Amino acid sequence: MKTLKILVLNGPNLNLLGTREPEVYGTETLDSIAKDMNACAGRLGGVELEFRQSNAESDLITWIGAARGKFAGIIINPAAFTHTSLGVADALKAVEKEVPAVEVHLSNTNAREEIRHKSLTAPACIGQIMGFKGYSYILALDALVKHLRG
Ligand code: DQA
Repeated sequence: MKTLKILVLNGPNLNLLGTREPEVYGTETLDSIAKDMNACAGRLGGVELEFRQSNAESDLITWIGAARGKFAGIIINPAAFTHTSLGVADALKAVEKEVPAVEVHLSNTNAREEIRHKSLTAPACIGQIMGFKGYSYILALDALVKHLRG
């Protein structure tokens, strides 16, 4: 079985998880989510994860654009850029054939303020998972691996 390398990207303010509005986002930190995802990758077998977080839109765009040939897929929580960034959406669209992406959110953005209902990035992804706090990432990993292995 070929090893699948998956890039896990987190956008602005997600470095603050654990203390940031825990009633909305839960109490898990990015590190604890990474640990749970690594355990899930171990159970799935043949899956290697690389984690990156940035508060800068340009970092995310650069990382997505450079993912071709290095990663089989992307799991991304674009955070606030979900609702604002044509740049991140365009980057995902540019690589979608070779590097499909799954969009993740901790909160159910559809049940929040109207400005969070629209995702500019979701149309450039194969699917979107939201509302299950840190477990959304596990669901996304399972779904992406299933998609990649067919
Ligand atoms: C979020 C939802 C976004 O609306 C918000 O800006 C975030 C986090 C989530 O995971 O629930 O920063 O992406």
